[in-house]
Amino acid sequence: MHAERTLVSIIEGFRRSLPMADHARGKRLAVTCQYKCANACLGPECNSSHNETFQEVAAAALSRRALLGLGAAGAVAVAVGGLRGQTPVSGAGSSGVGGAGAAFARPAGGSLPFDPIAPVNRLVDEFTVPAGYTWRPIIRWGDPLFSKAPAFDVNAQTPAAQAVQFGYNSDYLDIVADPSGKTGVLVNNHEYVNPEIMFPPTTDAAELQRRGDIYKAAQGMSVVEITRRRTGEPWSYVVDGKRNRRITVETVFELTGPAAGSDLVKTAADPEGRWVHGTLGNCAGGTTPWGTILSGEENFNGYFAWAADTAAQKRYQSSSSTSTSTGWDKYDPRFDAHNADYVNEPNRFGYIVEIDPQDPTSTPRKHTAMGRFKHEGANVIVAEDGRVVAYMGDDERNDYLYKFVSKNRISGSRKKNLQLLSEGDLYVAKFSGNSPANQITGTGALPADGKFDGSGTWIPLTRNGESVVPGFTTEQVLVYTRLAADAVGATKMDRPEDVEPSPKTGKVYLALTNNSARSVASIDEANPITGNRYGHVVELTETAGQAGTTFGWSILLLCGDPAVFGNSYFAGFPKELVSPISCPDNVAFDSAGNLWISTDGAPSTIGYNDGLFLVPLEGAERGHVQQFLSVPREAETCGPVIHDKDGLVFVAVQHPGEGGTFAAPTSLFPDYGSTAAGAVATAPRPSVVQVYRA
Ligand code: FEO
Ligand code: CA
Ligand code: CA
Repeated sequence: MHAERTLVSIIEGFRRSLPMADHARGKRLAVTCQYKCANACLGPECNSSHNETFQEVAAAALSRRALLGLGAAGAVAVAVGGLRGQTPVSGAGSSGVGGAGAAFARPAGGSLPFDPIAPVNRLVDEFTVPAGYTWRPIIRWGDPLFSKAPAFDVNAQTPAAQAVQFGYNSDYLDIVADPSGKTGVLVNNHEYVNPEIMFPPTTDAAELQRRGDIYKAAQGMSVVEITRRRTGEPWSYVVDGKRNRRITVETVFELTGPAAGSDLVKTAADPEGRWVHGTLGNCAGGTTPWGTILSGEENFNGYFAWAADTAAQKRYQSSSSTSTSTGWDKYDPRFDAHNADYVNEPNRFGYIVEIDPQDPTSTPRKHTAMGRFKHEGANVIVAEDGRVVAYMGDDERNDYLYKFVSKNRISGSRKKNLQLLSEGDLYVAKFSGNSPANQITGTGALPADGKFDGSGTWIPLTRNGESVVPGFTTEQVLVYTRLAADAVGATKMDRPEDVEPSPKTGKVYLALTNNSARSVASIDEANPITGNRYGHVVELTETAGQAGTTFGWSILLLCGDPAVFGNSYFAGFPKELVSPISCPDNVAFDSAGNLWISTDGAPSTIGYNDGLFLVPLEGAERGHVQQFLSVPREAETCGPVIHDKDGLVFVAVQHPGEGGTFAAPTSLFPDYGSTAAGAVATAPRPSVVQVYRA
C-alpha cells in the first residue's frame, strides 16, 4: 500500500493540481458523490466477504504453462511525455492530439470519418466535436412533452409541470427508429437530481417538500417521439407524440419473477408484494432484440432513511440514517425504513426494469430473476440456441459481474418475448489469471506473458430458477444477491459499469471505471492496479457458447493519460498515438463493430472534460483510442448511440455544471445565455445531444 501511495504521489507530481483530486478516494466532484451515489466511495468498503482472490489459482495455472509471453512491459512501452503537447487545446473543431494528430488513422469501417479532437481542459464549458461536425440538443431538461406542459422556466418549477416535461440528469439513451427511418422514439433515463443548481437555497419545510415532489417527477425515464424529413438528417422531438410518456418515482411497476410476492418485498401499501411505485437511480440500460428498453436501478440506497444496521443493509452500502438528500423520508413514509410498515420498501428497488416504448399504456416491470444489486445496466444478446443472455455490472467498489440466461427461447411472438426476462438463471463471474502473482505488481506493468489475461467461470446462483446457494432461499438470492454472490466466491471487480456484448462477435466488453479500494493485498490479474484511478476495460470471450459457463478474458485497455501514466495500455497500440481516456463508463458499438466508450471522471483524474471515444477492436488499429467529442464543464458523457450509417452520434449530457450553485452557475450548457424563445438561460440543462456533419 505504501509503495503504491508513493508511486501515486510521484505521478501526481507531474500533473496539474486538480482542485477536487483530494476529494474522497474516488474520481468525482464532492457534489456528484453526494447526490448520485450517496457518498458510496467515502464509506467503508461494503464488500467485506472473504471470498478468495485468484492469485493461488493463477500460480497453479502457471506451473502448467510455458512462459512464452511477449516479454516484459518494455515490449510495448514507448516514450511518453514530450511526444505531444501538455497544454490541452479547447474549442469546437480542434483536431488532432498535439504532434500525434497527423498519425491518426481514420476509424475502421462505418461512415463517420473524423480527426480526433484534442482533449479539452476541465474548466471549459463547451461541447466539442471534430472538425466538420456540429451539434444540437434534441431535448433538454424541462422541455415540454405535451402541449399542456408549460415552457421550461427554472424560476417557476412545479411538480405537475415537471411530470409532463423532460426529466433531469440524462443517462441511458436509445434512438429507436421506425421502419420508415423518419419517425421513432427517443428513450432516456433520468438518474438523479442536483438540488443546488436547480433551486436557490431554502430551509422552509413546505418548500422543501414541494421541491421533493419536483425531484420525484424529474427522475425516472422519458419516452419521446422523434421525427425528421428524411433519413440521414438530425432528429427533432414531437410535442404530444402518441408514444410520449414520463415514468417517474410514482409510476406503478409490476414485480416479476421468483421474488415477486415474497415476504421480502411486501409493504403495508402492497401486501401482495407485486406492485411498486417508481424506479430510482436509473443509470445505464440496454435495448432488447424485441424492442423494449432495460434500465438499471443503481444507487437506490441513497433515497432511504435506514433503520437498523443489518448485514444485508450494510452490504448495499446503507447504514442507519435519519435523512436523505431528496427529503422524501420526511413526508413520504415509504422512504423511511424506520417506519415498520415500510421496512421492505428498499427491497423493491435495485432491479433491472423493462419498459415497452411502443405502448405508453403498458405497465413497466421489474425483473427479480435478474437479481438485486446496484444495477448499472443490462445488455441482451441471443445465444446460439435461442435463449437470451443479459450481461450486467454491479457498480460498487469490489462488486461483481453477472449474467442472466433466460429459460425460454426468443420467438416470433412479441408477447412471449416480453416474458423472457421473468424466468431464467443468474450467474456471477469468477476470474482466474494465468500469470504468477509476483508479476502482478499493482503498478499496471505487464506480466511476462505480455498480457493481463486468463480464464473464468460463471458460477450459478440459481438453476432452473431456484437457488443453488447453500443457506439461501431463491427469494434471498434474488433480493440479497450481493450476499449470495459473496457466498460462492465471485471475483471482486473495480466497479463494473456498462457491460455489453458485441453484436458482431459476441465478445463482451466490461467497463471497470476505477476502484479507490483496490489494495496491494487485493490486486489480481483482472484488477491489476492498486487504487485503480483511471479504470480499465476487459474483453471477455465466451468459450462454451454465449449461454455457457466458461470464458476467456484479457484486459483491452488500462486507461489514463499516457503522458502521465506510463503503464497505461491500449491493446498494444502505440500509446503516443492515442487520446487520453479515464474512467470508462458506458460502451456502444457502431455498425462496423468498433467499440465506443463514454467516460465519467476524467476531470478529476486527468484534468480534461469527459468525452466519447472510438476504439477499433480488429486489425492494426486495435486499441487506437480516438476522442470524438467532449462534454461541457463538470458533465458526464452518457448513453452513447452510434448511428454511423446515418452519420449521427448521440450522447446524453449528465450533470453539466454540477459544481456550481443556482446563483453562480459554472455551466450554461446547452443554451449559453439565451434560449430559442429568447428567455435568458440561468441554469445548465442536462440534455440529449446529436452530433452530425456540419
Ligand atoms: Fe450511474 Fe455506475 O454510473
Ligand atoms: Ca497473463
Ligand atoms: Ca454509468
